[in-house]
Amino acid sequence: MNQVEMKQAVARAAIEFVPQGIVGVGTGSTANFFIDELAKIKGRFDGAVASSEASAQRLRGHGIEVLDLNTVGQMDVYIDGADEITRHLHMIKGGGGALTREKIVAACSRQFVCLADQSKLVDVLGRFPLPIEVIPMARGYVARQLVKLGGQPQLREGFVTDNGNIILDVLGLSILNPVELEGILNQIVGVVTNGLFAQRPADILLLGKESGVEVLRAI
Ligand code: A5P
Repeated sequence: MNQVEMKQAVARAAIEFVPQGIVGVGTGSTANFFIDELAKIKGRFDGAVASSEASAQRLRGHGIEVLDLNTVGQMDVYIDGADEITRHLHMIKGGGGALTREKIVAACSRQFVCLADQSKLVDVLGRFPLPIEVIPMARGYVARQLVKLGGQPQLREGFVTDNGNIILDVLGLSILNPVELEGILNQIVGVVTNGLFAQRPADILLLGKESGVEVLRAI
């Protein structure tokens, strides 16, 4: 299997985790394959909560009802991709810029199922630049705090999040303790969310490999 086929394979495998009620749906190319799989079973569940405008549009395009999270409350499962993931199922997310809504929908879900091809599995997070969503007027301040922490922040040019904010992509941070660093970054005034998903990691990883889909739980 090549990378695209691995993404399609994990998207197909995720269907068995879809509840009868409402499913939380992520963002990105892997999540898009999952949405296309959901379309094939749309009579078997009630609807979806989307983590981005792009995913909401794709879901609606398939005739799947998209619900407001505030009317739904708690969901059984959230299914999404990742940019990097460890065997502890800590992740970097936000390559598509949807990290804040992804973290909110994940927080409202009992189970987080991550879909990833094998290139995303790493021993230590951080080769992928860590996305941080920032209130626009705080851009300079937050960037200076990130430099003090050892990071090299780069503005994602020409990009505005669904929430009207900017993204700083940060290289150079030491992410040996992602749970702690997630908290430290969230303390910087002006940061909306950072792309570390460690305080609330995934529960299950469906990992696409050349040989097929492997199911991993946190070690
Ligand atoms: C979107 O903001 C991200 O968190 C995605 O989940 C992540 O970038 C994975 O995307 P792909 O499935 O396109 O690799």
